[in-house]
Amino acid sequence: MKKKISLLFLAIFIVGIMVGCGSNESMSKKVELRDEPVKSSSDYGNGTGNISSGGTNKDNNTTSDTLKVGFIQTANESGWRAAHTQSMKDTFDTDEYTYTFVDGQGDQAVQIAGMERFIKEAYDVIILDPIVEEGWDDILKKAQNADIPVIVVDRMVSSDSSLYSCWIGSDFEKEGKDAAQWLVDNKGTTEAQNIVILEGTKGASAQLGRTSGFDAVISQYDNYTVLASEDGDFDKAKGKELMKNYMGRFDKIDVIVTQNDNMAYGVIEAINEAGKKPSDYTIISFDGEANAFKEMINGNIAVDIECNPLQGPTIEAVMKKLLAGETVEKKLYMEEGVYPASVAAQEVANRKY
Ligand code: AHR
Repeated sequence: MKKKISLLFLAIFIVGIMVGCGSNESMSKKVELRDEPVKSSSDYGNGTGNISSGGTNKDNNTTSDTLKVGFIQTANESGWRAAHTQSMKDTFDTDEYTYTFVDGQGDQAVQIAGMERFIKEAYDVIILDPIVEEGWDDILKKAQNADIPVIVVDRMVSSDSSLYSCWIGSDFEKEGKDAAQWLVDNKGTTEAQNIVILEGTKGASAQLGRTSGFDAVISQYDNYTVLASEDGDFDKAKGKELMKNYMGRFDKIDVIVTQNDNMAYGVIEAINEAGKKPSDYTIISFDGEANAFKEMINGNIAVDIECNPLQGPTIEAVMKKLLAGETVEKKLYMEEGVYPASVAAQEVANRKY
């Protein structure tokens, strides 16, 4: 029976991808879950199109004293995200834990429903990667009243920090500053440079921090003009459309800032399809995927600001301290670097995502 149900969900998942997306490029909304209970990875896969062996699949192995860890992901919008999901799975989908994965499908309501479920089922720890920063107060209070620690990861919540245990992720503001500083260092402070920006999902920490960090540095120099800064939703297809739109609207674009690699791939396609060359622009991207390093080697991306998705082991270490009653840092940043195209060939083999 269980097998039949799993096969049914797999079929729904595949049809959802074929009908909803037309390709694998834009997978944020792959399954419509509105009236259904939130599913775990064991029900329908981890967003890569493969059925995942999520912790809930291992019913036979788990015992009542196994720590129940629930992870709520944002979606599966990028290679970065797939690497993040995999890092969590590698860390927590072991015999040590009963691990349940919820794919938020780019929808905060789905994420909140996942939280409700974990609270109702008395999970020991909830790990939340919030799609946007706003709108978490009520559900965080519920978790706190139920005495369930919540570890916020990757993106931030705007709620009072007393409502969650700690946060682990990237310094998005610094990433934005690093990008702008690289530009100033490499293009100088005299020659006029027109910039277009493709932003990530509105209200997500990565969009907010990268936008304000970049602006804080670039606004100090008169030779830089931001022509437009619009929403590409961290999505390749949307990034491609937005780049086509920018090329139609602006005669002279010198610098293109894409707030993730996924959108950079869409930008490169749009430029090629317009009969132009990506190397004629200065393309600045974020994440540091191996594929982006290949694009740097090809001369298509000028610099990539790393955002480290391999957070599972760090999250586990913090979680263990927390459960042992030790004090943990309220905010913990991952280590990240800045990779210009000049180092791409030597670094590409070291990329783990
Ligand atoms: O929150 C991290 C960002 O989210 C990554 O830059 C991006 O690829 C993902 O969608």
